[in-house]
Amino acid sequence: MRETEVRPSDLIWSMVVHEGEGTVPVASMPGVERLSVKEAAKAAVRARDLGIPAIAIFPHIDPSRKDATGSIAADPDGVIPRAVKAMKDAAPEVGIMCDVALDPFTDHGHDGVVEGGKILNDATIERLIEQGLMQAAAGADILAPSDMMDGRIGRLRGALEGDGWHDTLIMSYAAKYASAFYGPYRDAIGSAKLSAGQGDKKTYQMDPSNTEEAIREVALDIAEGADMVMVKPGLPYLDILRRLVDEFRMPTYAFQVSGEYAMIKAAGANGWIDEERAILESLAAFKRAGAAGIITYFAPWAAQKLGG
Ligand code: PBG
Repeated sequence: MRETEVRPSDLIWSMVVHEGEGTVPVASMPGVERLSVKEAAKAAVRARDLGIPAIAIFPHIDPSRKDATGSIAADPDGVIPRAVKAMKDAAPEVGIMCDVALDPFTDHGHDGVVEGGKILNDATIERLIEQGLMQAAAGADILAPSDMMDGRIGRLRGALEGDGWHDTLIMSYAAKYASAFYGPYRDAIGSAKLSAGQGDKKTYQMDPSNTEEAIREVALDIAEGADMVMVKPGLPYLDILRRLVDEFRMPTYAFQVSGEYAMIKAAGANGWIDEERAILESLAAFKRAGAAGIITYFAPWAAQKLGG
């Protein structure tokens, strides 16, 4: 009588890479480690062996190398392109997805270029295109713009076509909410906490109270050329996920974000919930709500459990 079943092939492994050697645990996300390029390549092989079809990578950048405009975001020798190449060499069948956004590289922590306390939409898009083209050239299979500037999907698609990257896919963070659930991610990638006077991300991310706006945002991104769309965060927004699937019939993904991971781990560690059951139940809920796939930090654990 079971209507849906989560499989390893439903999972996209959310992974943090860093510029140094070895692995560094992330305090607020027990079980998650920042991986060196070498370790990321080994993880790609592990993903293939576990049946996980894709990995989404996020960079931890040394604070000394960040600046106001995130000038190293498009560096072709940066940790992201190096990790993409190493992972594609090690396990070519595993898809690699890269975040297109400036926040890991800016010293203020915003996703774009800031002037006079305001995010500059169009100037940011120019930088994102450079970053996206660099990621495509490094071998990324999927570009995932998470910056939320208006018009970036169309511009990026055009730039990719212009440079011959016809097969590079775009998964748009189409319905992305200004959420408290991203908290531990700041710790994971070492991104700056927006300080007083620097505003918040509410001018480019959505109000958690809105549904109709999500429909409009997703319609725009699809019209601009997104191949797949995403809802983020995950579990608190399953109503949005279901509505988008019903409305557009597009491959629609859910991101089980850092705070969702941390809550389950913390409650589990305290013996307040049964951690393993809670993880599997949360993944099943995404699938039931219509997700084409789930981006999650639980991917390797869950794939092992489900595939074994
Ligand atoms: C930002 C970005 C964020 C996440 C992925 N890309 C944070 C934000 O928008 O503030 C969050 C991921 C997570 O919490 O696991 N470009």
